Amino acid sequence: MIGGSLFRWTMAYFAAALAWLLVALALMLGGVGYPAADIASPDTLVLVHAVTIGWLSLAMCGALFQFVPVLVAKPLFAEPWALPALGLLTSGLVCLLAGFLALGGRLPLALWLLPVGAVLLVTGFTLVVVDLGLTAWLRPTGPASFVLVGLASLCATAAFGSIFAFALAGWGGSAGEAVLASGVPLHAIAGLGGWLTLTAMGVSYRLLSMFMLSPDVNERQSRITLATGALAIAVTVAGGALAIGLASGMSAVLLLAGVLGLVSAALYGRDVAGIFRNRKRRQLELNMRIATLSFASLAGVAVLGVALIAVGELAAQVGAFTFLAVFGWLSGLVLAKLYKIVAFLTWLETYGPVMGRTPTPRVQDLVAEGRATKWFVIYYVAVWAGTLTLLAGEPGAFRLAVAAMTLGVAGIIREIVRIRRLADVAHPLRLPGGAIAPHLLFARN
Ligand code: HEM
Repeated sequence: MIGGSLFRWTMAYFAAALAWLLVALALMLGGVGYPAADIASPDTLVLVHAVTIGWLSLAMCGALFQFVPVLVAKPLFAEPWALPALGLLTSGLVCLLAGFLALGGRLPLALWLLPVGAVLLVTGFTLVVVDLGLTAWLRPTGPASFVLVGLASLCATAAFGSIFAFALAGWGGSAGEAVLASGVPLHAIAGLGGWLTLTAMGVSYRLLSMFMLSPDVNERQSRITLATGALAIAVTVAGGALAIGLASGMSAVLLLAGVLGLVSAALYGRDVAGIFRNRKRRQLELNMRIATLSFASLAGVAVLGVALIAVGELAAQVGAFTFLAVFGWLSGLVLAKLYKIVAFLTWLETYGPVMGRTPTPRVQDLVAEGRATKWFVIYYVAVWAGTLTLLAGEPGAFRLAVAAMTLGVAGIIREIVRIRRLADVAHPLRLPGGAIAPHLLFARN
């Protein structure tokens, strides 16, 4: 079971993550960063890291702290590290973003904020990686092995990011300058492809099987999917570092990594289709129906990538490609899973202690799927429309799409808060037999 024992701070991580998502949407609405500014501009870097660290990484960490101990049936190596890690990641991100603003001339020139932010972020991520890594290491099979490869990719991402931050502050020496000049794609692929995508894949195997009552994916099959994905990241990081050292060969490295990534995504598609086919729960819950839109977006990312390479437009359209990967595939999946995980953990926390002594509601009684569906649909239609506006080079229409995405996300957040408050549970069953209402931001474990 996912919530064998409840991790105290999952909701705090989720709340911080959702707050950063709103910040990122507000920036896009306000025309800060790509497409209003150049893709490599400091404003775009603010936007990119609000999304990748603030929203996606914090949501992923919150889920993993709950989920990894369940996967390996062992307690977290050091639960007390989780809250300091959240503080370090938040303050590090604020410093990093302030450093980017200084770089773009929006704040007084204080480039030292970049390395300070990097050090705080690396310290926070180290606490997360050591805590989760030492926990997952106890039984490194199935989904836990995806998490381990994801954590290794996070280390590579943070290492590249820190070198960039020191180099941008003028403290990187000639080696730092060389890495900054050609290493950005390596950092981006290790972060989005390795850390976020491989971890999301591993976690989704377990969550899909559990919530659809389906047998686990064949271990050998998922190991091949992981090995291909891990090889793609290893080729990117090791091959890319070598190419920087030799000052040649970067395109070949990225092409090989791209092909491996494509194969891994296709194998993952096969694995997920198997889980859906073999499920015992025929009626799909909302989070599963929405997850299928996320898988469709991942397939869309693969098709778009191949098509853009074929017409020689990948470099020019990398913004649209990344937007679909980040908001269609990753953010859509995370939002759908947050909706279900919050309901499940809230149910466990509230009704677990009184179960068997008094009638309790079902998990599905905590959600109002009919109402929530429209917010997810608005979100997804807006993300796909946003991708098309980026491809067509229409920044005005893009902002309209972002406005619709914001509406969808605000609606989803409202649903999640209602779940946590038990607002949709019918009254006689809401708090039966001495059950205690949960706190919005932490679990009373
Ligand atoms: C320790 C944490 C991190 C630090 C210090 C950091 C720092 C940086 C810096 C300084 C750049 C700009 C390089 C340049 O000027 O060209 C950059 C770019 C980028 N970073 Fe990070 N980063 C971190 C974590 C992450 C993570 C976790 C992800 C994704 C999951 C990520 C995704 C990206 C992307 C996609 C770019 C390219 C953005 C663009 O060109 O518009 N970063 N990062």
